[in-house]
Amino acid sequence: MPIVYDKQKRVFKLDTNKSSYAFHVTESKNLLHLYYGGYIPETDITHMLRIPEDAPFVPSTHDGMGPHSFDCAAIEFSTSGVADFREPCFQVMDKYGMSACECYYKSHNIYKGKPKLKGLPATYGTEDEVETLEVYCADPNNGMEIVLMYSVFPQCDVITRSARVCNKGKDPIELRRLLSTCVDLDRMDYDMITLHGTWARERHVERLPLRFGKQSVDSNRGSTSHALNNFIALCDHTATEDFGEAYGFSLVYSGSFLAMAEVNQYEKTRVVMGINPYDFSWHLEIGEEFQAPEVIMTYSGEGIGQMSRNLHDIMRNNLIRGKWKDLRRPILINNWEATYFNFDTEKLLDIAREAKKAGIEMLVMDDGWFGHRNDDRSSLGDWFVNEDKIKGGLKYLVDEVNKIGLKFGIWFEPEMISPDSELYKEHPDWCIHIPGRPRTLVRSQLVIDFSREDVRDYIYGRIKDILSSANIEYVKWDMNRQLSEVGNEVLPPERQREIWHRYVLGVYDMQERLLTDFPDLLLENCAGGGSRFDAGMLYYSPQIWTSDDTDAIERLKIQYGTSLCYPCSCFGAHVSDSPNHCVGRITPFETRGHVAMSGTFGYELDVTRISDDDKWNIRKQIEEFNKYNPLVRTGDYYRIGDPFANDRFDAWEFVAKDKSEALLEYVQVLKEPSVFLHRVKLKGLMKGAYYRHEQTGKVYSAELLMNSGFDIPSLWGDFRSYIAHFVKV
Ligand code: GLA
Repeated sequence: MPIVYDKQKRVFKLDTNKSSYAFHVTESKNLLHLYYGGYIPETDITHMLRIPEDAPFVPSTHDGMGPHSFDCAAIEFSTSGVADFREPCFQVMDKYGMSACECYYKSHNIYKGKPKLKGLPATYGTEDEVETLEVYCADPNNGMEIVLMYSVFPQCDVITRSARVCNKGKDPIELRRLLSTCVDLDRMDYDMITLHGTWARERHVERLPLRFGKQSVDSNRGSTSHALNNFIALCDHTATEDFGEAYGFSLVYSGSFLAMAEVNQYEKTRVVMGINPYDFSWHLEIGEEFQAPEVIMTYSGEGIGQMSRNLHDIMRNNLIRGKWKDLRRPILINNWEATYFNFDTEKLLDIAREAKKAGIEMLVMDDGWFGHRNDDRSSLGDWFVNEDKIKGGLKYLVDEVNKIGLKFGIWFEPEMISPDSELYKEHPDWCIHIPGRPRTLVRSQLVIDFSREDVRDYIYGRIKDILSSANIEYVKWDMNRQLSEVGNEVLPPERQREIWHRYVLGVYDMQERLLTDFPDLLLENCAGGGSRFDAGMLYYSPQIWTSDDTDAIERLKIQYGTSLCYPCSCFGAHVSDSPNHCVGRITPFETRGHVAMSGTFGYELDVTRISDDDKWNIRKQIEEFNKYNPLVRTGDYYRIGDPFANDRFDAWEFVAKDKSEALLEYVQVLKEPSVFLHRVKLKGLMKGAYYRHEQTGKVYSAELLMNSGFDIPSLWGDFRSYIAHFVKV
């Protein structure tokens, strides 16, 4: 039983295979956190409650639970204004202008399986895979019902949390914040790992020791952002990839977020995560509910690497959905870096013909096929094929591409509108804007108001028409700016601050409609490269464009950082031109292939203009991709090198779940003179087993490969790569 309730001790205990989570209902019906960490068998653990008897100079005996101080206690779901001075998860403003809230236990329900979260992405599972606990709480003062939801996935060592509130009072109320999780840990001696970046440099890793006070990452941009990802980890100061304790938290949401660790004066750490309370408010009429998104939490006692593998497993098995979830994805060629806006039917067909010869399986037509869009300054919203470029029409093009033997995919940016568009002329009020204020442009575009159903219906209708007009098997859904001047002319004043979240729900609604109407469609999310790379998006698309930076060496850091939380099987990764269009770096074709092969794999260059050598290289890469992709998609991922710690090399490994094979990938970043041998220790092999190195036929023990290491042959030059395949004998 992954979830038990010890009635006598009033302890809820949630167990995964290797972790335990527990909290207690006090006599006064408060919920106090007991423990989150490595597995412990007993439930009689109320002695672990951290209630100092009477801490001086902090409010105490608030609720008749005996002498104690709220500010010192480990609170299971923190509320505002009641003498716990740390970050609250829940705050309302009632009709009297009061904002204090409380959360008292009423009842609970434990059941197998896991319900959907209305309108939101969330993990799912069968009754054998997951068990759920709902704790019903109430604030008697303002009539709010608070439901804390926990689901336990024992196999992946994952517990998910979310919260829902319902206005059961006698008056409408303003919800000012509802975060999704609150975990009060017992110590402060952790490092916090976050992922920061910008365009073309997404998800670089930062690891810093916690200090007193609040440290957070957030977005107030309406989408996850290039700048900070909605994933954080806490780990021991001494934790490495393979040793030590690590907690991972990933928010299943794609809008503005807050993720915070707060260390209080008693050297305890509170972690909270959820929708950013900044500029958020939600009006709740009597009987109305609000559902907060889900947080995926994992604990690993075996280092940061295992934390990542737990997250990879839950996302691959219980978050990503649909036909493509477990399938090898077609090898695509995207024309963006090949042509930018300068293409027509003939050019695309030329690319398709060459691509086919090389073994590529799908052509993706990127930005510039609609309206009068010949640069990035116009036509978003005018989702009508530009037949000056796409001569003969879209159906003709797609049919010809199909005749050549390739599938066809298309780019959309549904969430945007260009001021220079027919749609804007007709509906200048359809963008997100504040009447009377300037409308800030980013890349010459405005955000279309997906909080409005009528707007969504129109845009969806256009997308559906286009997709129904030809045999289109893939969509790249792009989103190239953040939200500013957030308002519209439709909602009443008390609901204007809802637009941030309503917008995100609108995006989810659109993608859900798309997948319902086109269940075979392969959807790839994208946002100015990897600005909306989050667990929310993975519920809709099994892959996300990782970064506009396709340089193999830059990708080492980007893919390493992304892998802390997300599985490689979802990294959009392409082999592109050299010198690279983002950084001008010249890298070997082979290295570009090896790095892209650790993601979904594809090409983004003009195959009609590359050398015969490179055409031959593509064929060779495709052979390798076909051979290793099942391992990349389904295996366990181990980081071996650390591109943030050294600029000499990076290495990583995929090991089959049954340990029958492993793929080691190595990139020599800078060649050093007089370093003749680099020995790399493999990880995750089956102890006692022997593995044959496929390229040489030599057989090694797992122990030798893991304890001493495998010798990488000497590679001449910078940016060279090498892969080694090991098969258990
Ligand atoms: C974004 C995407 C690119 C490309 C362009 C098109 O930058 O990340 O891959 O689709 O838009 O404008």
